[in-house]
Amino acid sequence: MAHRLRPEGLPLRNPFSEEMSLKDILQVQNLGKTYRSGDQTLAVLREISFALAEGSTCAVIGPSGSGKTTLLAICAGLERPTSGTVILNGKNLGLMDENQLAQLRNREVGFIFQSFQLIPTLTALENVMVPAEIQGRNHARPRASELLEQVGLEDRFHHYPVQLSAGEQQRVALARAFINRPKILFADEPTGNLDAETSETVARLLFELNRVVGTTLVLVTHNPDLAAFTERIIQLRGGVIAADRRRSGGAFGASNTSA
Ligand SMILES: Nc1ncnc2c1ncn2[C@@H]1O[C@H](COP(=O)(O)OP(=O)(O)O)[C@@H](O)[C@H]1O
Ligand SMILES: [Mg+2]
Repeated sequence: MAHRLRPEGLPLRNPFSEEMSLKDILQVQNLGKTYRSGDQTLAVLREISFALAEGSTCAVIGPSGSGKTTLLAICAGLERPTSGTVILNGKNLGLMDENQLAQLRNREVGFIFQSFQLIPTLTALENVMVPAEIQGRNHARPRASELLEQVGLEDRFHHYPVQLSAGEQQRVALARAFINRPKILFADEPTGNLDAETSETVARLLFELNRVVGTTLVLVTHNPDLAAFTERIIQLRGGVIAADRRRSGGAFGASNTSA
């Protein structure tokens, strides 16, 4: 009896079954967002519901104006929805005040903007350190250096954003997004401003960091090659989910597609 590893009554888990899939890091329920201009209301998102498993990768695609950026901003706690709920890592964002949201964004969320959003007066290294310093971390510098090395910028530590190419700035933004080891990373067209070669480098890094750190990856992209790397593709059209496709990724049947 002493060698029994499993208390009586608990179900055995098959490590390869779907049930084993980890908890949902993100749950979006009946999300709606409307903007008002004058006496007009514009419904940008309507009845959006989906859940993402921890550690998974998902692409959000759809035509310009379909609500992709708005959806990401709401899921990341950067914007408030008009209706519905977002539960991120077990926390209902709608119940949090601005300070709590800021703290959650800093600790658990990474965000990569299409326009990089680096601080122009700080060097590459200092930019990467910012989110860690906000948390009062002591070892920001070595970790920032390590991340910049990982994205291939070991000889650009002390460059300012204006002294960097677009691809290099995006890689700095990537390193910055990962410094606090976020549970989930939202990337809004992370390769949208980059040439094909740099785009591939950034994409490869995103998925590599996702794999190494275990961060859930949600990315908006117009690039079918990039979307093809994700386990799931959510397609928006006119503010609603037009399609939600999953693939069984990983070691078993990576090319297996199901609706
Ligand atoms: N602050 C805002 N005020 C009014 N309308 C907005 C605002 N932000 C976005 N929109 C509108 O919402 C729609 C969706 O925008 P967005 O989420 O940026 O789409 P996408 O990222 O898919 O191109 C667009 O029609 C846009 O004009
Ligand atoms: Mg957008």
